[in-house]
Amino acid sequence: MNLTEPLMLSGGVRAPSRVMFGPHETNLARRRAFTGRHVSYYRRRAAGGAGIVVTETASVHSSDWPYERAPLAAGSVDGWASIARACHAEGALALASIGHAGGQGSSAYSQQPLLAPSRVPEVNTREVPKAMEAEDIDAVIGGFGDAARLAVSAGLDGVEVNAGQHSLVRQFLSGLTNQRQDGYGEDRQRFAREVLQTVRDAAGGALVGLRLSCDELAPWAGITPEVALEILAGLHPYADYVVVVRGSIYSVSATRPDGHTPPGFNLGLSRRVRDALPGPVAVVAQGSIVDVAMAQEALASGAADAVEMTRAQIADPGLVRKVRARAEATIRPCVLCNQACQVRDPRNPVVSCIGEPSSGHETEDAPVSGATSRPQRVLVVGAGPSGLEAARVAALRGHRVRVVDRTPRPGGAVRAAAAGAGRERLAGIADWLAGECSRLGVQLDLGRELGGQDIGAHDGPVLICTGSRDGRRDYRVDAGADVRTARSVLEKTGTGSAGALPAGPVLIWDPVGGPIGISVAELLAPDRQVALVTQDLIAGTQLARSGDLADASTRLQRAGVALHSRSRLVAVTPSAAVVEDVFTGEIGEIGASVVIDAGHRLPDDTLWRAHPARPRAGDAVAPRTIYEAVLEGRRAALALDGLDGLDGGAS
Ligand SMILES: Cc1cc2nc3c(=O)[nH]c(=O)nc-3n(C[C@H](O)[C@H](O)[C@H](O)COP(=O)(O)O)c2cc1C
Repeated sequence: MNLTEPLMLSGGVRAPSRVMFGPHETNLARRRAFTGRHVSYYRRRAAGGAGIVVTETASVHSSDWPYERAPLAAGSVDGWASIARACHAEGALALASIGHAGGQGSSAYSQQPLLAPSRVPEVNTREVPKAMEAEDIDAVIGGFGDAARLAVSAGLDGVEVNAGQHSLVRQFLSGLTNQRQDGYGEDRQRFAREVLQTVRDAAGGALVGLRLSCDELAPWAGITPEVALEILAGLHPYADYVVVVRGSIYSVSATRPDGHTPPGFNLGLSRRVRDALPGPVAVVAQGSIVDVAMAQEALASGAADAVEMTRAQIADPGLVRKVRARAEATIRPCVLCNQACQVRDPRNPVVSCIGEPSSGHETEDAPVSGATSRPQRVLVVGAGPSGLEAARVAALRGHRVRVVDRTPRPGGAVRAAAAGAGRERLAGIADWLAGECSRLGVQLDLGRELGGQDIGAHDGPVLICTGSRDGRRDYRVDAGADVRTARSVLEKTGTGSAGALPAGPVLIWDPVGGPIGISVAELLAPDRQVALVTQDLIAGTQLARSGDLADASTRLQRAGVALHSRSRLVAVTPSAAVVEDVFTGEIGEIGASVVIDAGHRLPDDTLWRAHPARPRAGDAVAPRTIYEAVLEGRRAALALDGLDGLDGGAS
C-alpha cells in the first residue's frame, strides 16, 4: 500500500490519496464563519495531493465558542460550500470537523457557562463548568445533527465528529470528566452513541468519521487503549473511518507535541485499532507523522489505511504531489518546532510555518512561482535561513545566484539552534534550503569573507543576510571570568567539541525565556551541575507559544537543573555569578566556573552600514526567529522582480 494510492471508503467514495489534512485551528475565521482565506488554504493542500481535507472544527451549538475565531456550524454553510468546490476541483474529498469543546472551551466569548458532563473544574483554565441538564444534552445532540445536515447540504463529502483531545464527546466517554449518576454516566458511551446516530441520520449516506482519543494518558480514570477498544466496539458501526489520536485534559500538548516527542508515537495504538475493527471501517493514523518513509511504512505494515499529515502539509502543501513525482527529496520538512502553527497563544496569530511563511497567508502573499522577466546576477551575503531562502526563491524565478558565507557550512544560526537538546530536527530546514539551492543551481561559496569593496564591485543586486552578532553584556565581567554565548557553545557542540567547557558548575543566564537557554541547560545537565538564571518567575516563559512550557519545566526538573527565578545577572567572577533579586534587590552568589549567556543578540550589519542602499533581511535587520528570517529572505528575493510579497492578491 502506498500513500499516493486511492482510498476507497464506504459507499464507493474514493479519496485520491491516503493522506489526510486534519482539522486544526487556523485563526482565519471572521465572525464565526469560514473565510476566503480558509478556501485558499485548503485548496492549496487539495491541489498538493491531500486525499481528504478536514476543515477546522466548527462548533455545533452556540453554547460552544472555544476561541475567538472558532467557526460556528450554523454560520458555515457558505464557507463550507466554497471549500467543497475548491477541494473537489482539485480532486480531494472535503469533510467538516464538527464538535463541541465542552468544559475545555471558554466562556470569555459566549458569556455563558461552560457545558460539561460533570462539574469537574477544567484542569487548564480552572473554570468550573455547568453539569449538563437533559435539555442541554438534547440541544447539543440536536446541534450535531443540524451541523451534519448543513455540511452535507453545502456539498461536503461528510463530517468528522470530534471526540479527540479537545471535545465534549470525549468528556462523556471518560471517567476523568464524566461522573454522572444518570443514564449518561452509567453508560458513558450513551452520549457519543446518540451523537453519532443523529449525525448518521442527518448525513443521509454521506461519510461520517470519528476522531477519538484512544489514550488519555491518565490511566487512573481516563480512556486507556483497552477502554478505547471497548468504546470502538460500540461506536464503530456508526463510523466510516476512525482517526486514532491521544491526549486529554492532563496532556494538552500530547496531541501535537513538538520534536521532544518521537514522531509516529501513535502508530502502535493505530495498529491495535486497525486489528480490532472490521475492514470496511478505515483507520487513520495520526501523530507527528512528518516523514514520507514513516507514512509509507505505517500503510505497508498495516498499522493504518491512511495517514494524517497535518503539520507536514502546513510545511509543504505539495507533499503528495512531490511523492507522486518521485521528488521526495524536495519536500520541505516539518521539523516539529510548533513555533508558527500553534495559534492559541496570546498574540492570536494566523496559522503559518517557519519554513513556509505563506501558509495561512495564501491570499495575501505573492506566490514565489513564476519567472522573472529580467534575469539578474544576484549576490546574497550570508547562508543562514534568510540568505538561503532569498537565494532559493531568486533562483527559482530564474536569476543567477551566488551565496557567500564566511563559515564553511550553510544554515547560520539554525545550525546552532539545532545543536540544542531536543531541537535536532531543526537542522532539516537548513539542509532542505541548502539542498534546494544546490538543485536550483545556486553557487554556494562558503568559507569566504566578503568586504565592502566586493559588494560595491558586484554588478547586480546584493542582498545582505548577514545574521546576528553577540549582544551587549549589561553585567560586569571580572578578570579571569569565563563568559560565553549560548551560540558559541552550541556551535562547538555541533562540531562535537562540547568538552571545550571548563570543569565545574555551569550557569546559564537566560533573559529571553525562549528555547535556546532551556535547550542548552538540557544539553549540559546530564554531565554536570547546571543552574539557570532568569529574571522571570518561571523558566522558558516564551515556550507557552509552542506549547512546550509545562513539558520543558518537567524536563528541567528531571534533569536536576537548579532554577534561579526573578534573578538578574549583575556580575561574573572567575568562580561565581553575582545575581540580584529583581523584587528585593538582594544580592547573592551562585558558584559557576563558566557563565553561558543566552541573551538577545544584535544585528550583524557592518556590511549593510557600508552599503545602506542594499536590501537586508532577517537577523541582519533585527535578530528574531527562523520564521522572520525565511519570510524576509523570501520577500527580498520577490522584491527583485517588483513583487513586494505583500498584498499580492494571488493564492
Ligand atoms: C494549530 C493546530 C491546531 C489544532 N487544533 C486541533 C483541534 O482543535 N482539534 C483536534 O482534534 N485537533 C487539532 N489539531 C491536531 C491536528 O488535527 C492533528 O491531529 C495534529 O496536528 C497531529 O497531526 P500532525 O502530527 O500530522 O500534525 C491541531 C493541530 C494544529 C497544528
